[in-house]
Amino acid sequence: MDRMLAEVRAAFAGWPEAARFLADWPKVSELRACEASALPVCRWLAAMRGGPGTQAVLAEVQRLAGRLAWRQTYGAADFGDAFLQGYGWSEFIGLRGPVASERIACGVLLLGPGVTYPPHAHQAEELYLPISGGAEWQRGDAEFACVPVGQAIYHHSWMAHAMRTGAEPLAALYLWRGGDLAAKSVILPG
Ligand SMILES: [Fe+2]
Repeated sequence: MDRMLAEVRAAFAGWPEAARFLADWPKVSELRACEASALPVCRWLAAMRGGPGTQAVLAEVQRLAGRLAWRQTYGAADFGDAFLQGYGWSEFIGLRGPVASERIACGVLLLGPGVTYPPHAHQAEELYLPISGGAEWQRGDAEFACVPVGQAIYHHSWMAHAMRTGAEPLAALYLWRGGDLAAKSVILPG
């Protein structure tokens, strides 16, 4: 876990937007017990390939994936059953993950190919960093735009955002700061 967290932190460190989040990076004393659990979307992880600057952190996520708790915030009533087959995340730092923090949350989101994660928003400000798979991201009222692997995406508090994958699955690290770090996102009209 230490090695993976070091790679996660290093991956974000080059982004000025990450500074406020990383200032609250917790000291790791002991790990919270988290029972490993898998999701259908985890099947895409092993074959994923990193991009510029993300190979090392992706390799760490792949190495530890089987020991992580993979979770979903939504149910079938939110975006349907098919979405749940291609969506999941694992928290590394936060209110639920192995490293405790009440200041920031950090983890990785997985989306399978051909998945649309509809517009949603949350109080926490957020920084994403795709580490495998180019996808299209929508910020606020803007059109969907391609974001390559290794390029961070910032969402301020309550900013609407959405993403959709094409032929490739997506793995994206995330940082959350502020508000309820375990809150379910508010789903917005698409
Ligand atoms: Fe978000």
